[in-house]
Amino acid sequence: VYIVIRARLKGELFMDDVTVEQKIFLSSKDGNNDVEEKFDEMAGFLLLYHSAVKEVKTKLEILDEEFKIKRKRNPIEYMKSRIKTPKSIMSKLERKGFEISIASAKNNLHDIAGVRVICSFVDDIYEVANTLIKQDDIILIEEKDYIKNPKPNGYRSLHLVVQVPVFFSEHVELVRVEVQIRTIAMDFWASLEHKLYYKTEKNASLDIKHDLKECADVISSTDLKMQQIQRQVEFLD
Ligand code: GTP
Ligand code: MG
Repeated sequence: VYIVIRARLKGELFMDDVTVEQKIFLSSKDGNNDVEEKFDEMAGFLLLYHSAVKEVKTKLEILDEEFKIKRKRNPIEYMKSRIKTPKSIMSKLERKGFEISIASAKNNLHDIAGVRVICSFVDDIYEVANTLIKQDDIILIEEKDYIKNPKPNGYRSLHLVVQVPVFFSEHVELVRVEVQIRTIAMDFWASLEHKLYYKTEKNASLDIKHDLKECADVISSTDLKMQQIQRQVEFLD
């Protein structure tokens, strides 16, 4: 869609560049099939989520920098963010039985915008989460603690869905962003498990599942050990 919007701004757009799925997504049930207008609507939609991601990332960067000054170390190792592609938004709406339109995506999906925060230690995860949630303009919509309650496959992370206001020239929009907070170790496991998932899904042998779960548990106990060492170091300091 980016390429399409950019091409349109340069006046290079040919309708053939637009996939059938994008056409469907762009022509919601409001009876307006003006493609120009639909592109503007899509550009506005993407701007909304890009802006919300920026807001959340900036808040987290500020917390990280403040922590650095106060405690001489950064709780956040790094962050990644992504906006779901229109294709993926459409398939999720379809899978969940929702209407396929921009309005429906805004209302029904809470993971169009995602920020992944990779922390150094487990304690940092909760500190970062709590200081973010505490902010006046942030509303916590949902919290899933897969660290205290890991998924059966061994997946661990803290998931938050927060709502953040984005200010435009004439209006404010409340936008939902999914924030996944995890340690480097949890991210290491989740990234590799995700890569293996597509292959294991079909012939999911119990051995493979068992081995992956074992890796997750080993990683988790290492995380806890590192956390204890960190506490001792902080105490010595
Ligand atoms: P959907 O968003 O519809 O999938 O359901 P949900 O909102 O209940 O999902 P949940 O909050 O449990 O997880 C959402 C995201 O967390 C996924 O898109 C992944 O990025 C990540 N995630 C959840 N479970 C796993 C897992 O078992 N392995 C890996 N690698 N990532 C996971
Ligand atoms: Mg989700």
